[in-house]
Amino acid sequence: MGKTDGAKARKGEGFAIGPVLLPSNVLLAPMSGVTDAPFRRIVEGFGLGLGYSEMVSSRELACNSEDAVRRLVRTDPSRPLAVQIAGRDEGIMVRAARIAAERGADIIDINLGCPARRVTGGMAGAALMREPARAAGLIRAVARAVDIPVTVKMRLGWDETSKNAPEIALAAQEAGARMICVHARTRQQFYKGAADWGFLRKVRAVINVPLVVNGDILGIDEAKDALAQSGADGVMLGRGVLGRPWLPMQVAMALHDGIRLDDPPLDEQRQTVIGHYRAIIAHYGAQTGVKCARKHLAAYLEAAGEKFRFDITKWRRLVCRSNDADEVAALISRFYECLGVERAA
Ligand SMILES: Cc1cc2nc3c(=O)[nH]c(=O)nc-3n(C[C@H](O)[C@H](O)[C@H](O)COP(=O)(O)O)c2cc1C
Repeated sequence: MGKTDGAKARKGEGFAIGPVLLPSNVLLAPMSGVTDAPFRRIVEGFGLGLGYSEMVSSRELACNSEDAVRRLVRTDPSRPLAVQIAGRDEGIMVRAARIAAERGADIIDINLGCPARRVTGGMAGAALMREPARAAGLIRAVARAVDIPVTVKMRLGWDETSKNAPEIALAAQEAGARMICVHARTRQQFYKGAADWGFLRKVRAVINVPLVVNGDILGIDEAKDALAQSGADGVMLGRGVLGRPWLPMQVAMALHDGIRLDDPPLDEQRQTVIGHYRAIIAHYGAQTGVKCARKHLAAYLEAAGEKFRFDITKWRRLVCRSNDADEVAALISRFYECLGVERAA
């Protein structure tokens, strides 16, 4: 493991990103449409090293758009929040970063990894990995403009023939980035193929700020393998946390204390899901909230169904088709009751 500029990470212990000390080295990935304030609050409640906002368009944030500002909502003021911004215009990125900092972000993360055509088509996100000088210029400008740490999340490179994460990571560090996270796939892979954690050794060899490995870390064993193969200081978990908000805490406990905690009891899971659902309704209002909740509710049902080998087909249809907020809450309760009865039988 290379030297880091913060507290040195060991197993599940946290590390420092500039002045921000993380309680553990297990991070929740930024995910548009997923890591809103209600979800972050649930995951943080179980235990988390660092939560990220959904990606915020710098252009929208610079105009104070309602949707962009809602993405900055803090959950627990005692826990660090990283706000991720995307864009390619220096002036607009600087304005957006300042707004995020004024609204309480602890860290500004710059997106160099989004593969979506609507983002790369505008030459932002992962497209910036094809323009190292421009990417470094953006990072430098933002780092000079705010007095909170700036970090970067990137991919291995644009495609198989241009895996320049080491070069970009070094340029980012020289431009002022205080932590680098790498999703161990190229942009052209989108989410296909296996994440190449071992490639991060090449990044580790050239930077001394903390390095975080991301991609396909779905549980404790993958987290251990990803850390061992990459030499990174921490892990970032994305899709695996959907429907399992306790996963980052389980991973941190396993890395730090060597304890493998079981999932919470079914009744606690029911309370968690209902609490999350009610928070979504409060955050977005009933009409939008019912729709926003569906991906989470489907993931909770799937996770429970998989664990207990319980057929959730009927339940998913009922829960995900209803537009009635109270009916959905009642269905969730009934699902967990039936699951409990089934298990006890
Ligand atoms: C629904 C969804 C939304 C995502 N949104 C973002 C985003 O806003 N910013 C970002 O940097 N990455 C985003 N990602 C990528 C994740 O942060 C992460 O890099 C990727 O999912 C790989 O990690 P995983 O295998 O643990 O899911 C998103 C991924 C998913 C599945």
